[in-house]
Amino acid sequence: MIYFSYSGNTREMAKIAAEYTHSDICELLSPEPLPKDQKILHDKVVVEKLFPRQRSPLRMPADTDKYAVFIVGAPLWIGTYPGFFLDHLRSINWRGRMVYPFISFGGTVGNYYEELIEICRGARLAPPFEMHSGSRPEEVRKFKLWLGRINNFTGNIK
Ligand SMILES: Cc1cc2nc3c(=O)[nH]c(=O)nc-3n(C[C@H](O)[C@H](O)[C@H](O)COP(=O)(O)O)c2cc1C
Repeated sequence: MIYFSYSGNTREMAKIAAEYTHSDICELLSPEPLPKDQKILHDKVVVEKLFPRQRSPLRMPADTDKYAVFIVGAPLWIGTYPGFFLDHLRSINWRGRMVYPFISFGGTVGNYYEELIEICRGARLAPPFEMHSGSRPEEVRKFKLWLGRINNFTGNIK
């Protein structure tokens, strides 16, 4: 599983997912420090979306070649996964892989899934799990059901 979390919601989901699927877990970090003030971060993300800059390609910290199934999760930032997180995903060869995406969001779901389909070309994408950060524990129960499908799909995830 590959995940990123800024304020902890996605991390909680990632922990549940790791426990339920017995997956290896890889937390991706921003290549540069992120502002602690959420408002400043928000403005920065908006500016970067309006004026995308060329970022140097990132290397995945883990050896991804050995995995056939990926669980991928991050918060939504301005409607999609954080830019550096998408950069990390771009560095993976997705051909023949199965991808289970999840998000944590606070308001509106944007076009992250379409972007993911584009980035993970050659992989099969499962329907995503989208957890609203304000609606637990009912959402946690549904998340566990969604995770159960992963185990059923592969029989054994490593
Ligand atoms: C910079 C920034 C942008 C965000 N943009 C969105 C958004 O477009 N849509 C949405 O539903 N939530 C948005 N949120 C809320 C987060 O997705 C939500 O709080 C999420 O649960 C945070 O997960 P985390 O605790 O793992 O970082 C944004 C939060 C931040 C900090």
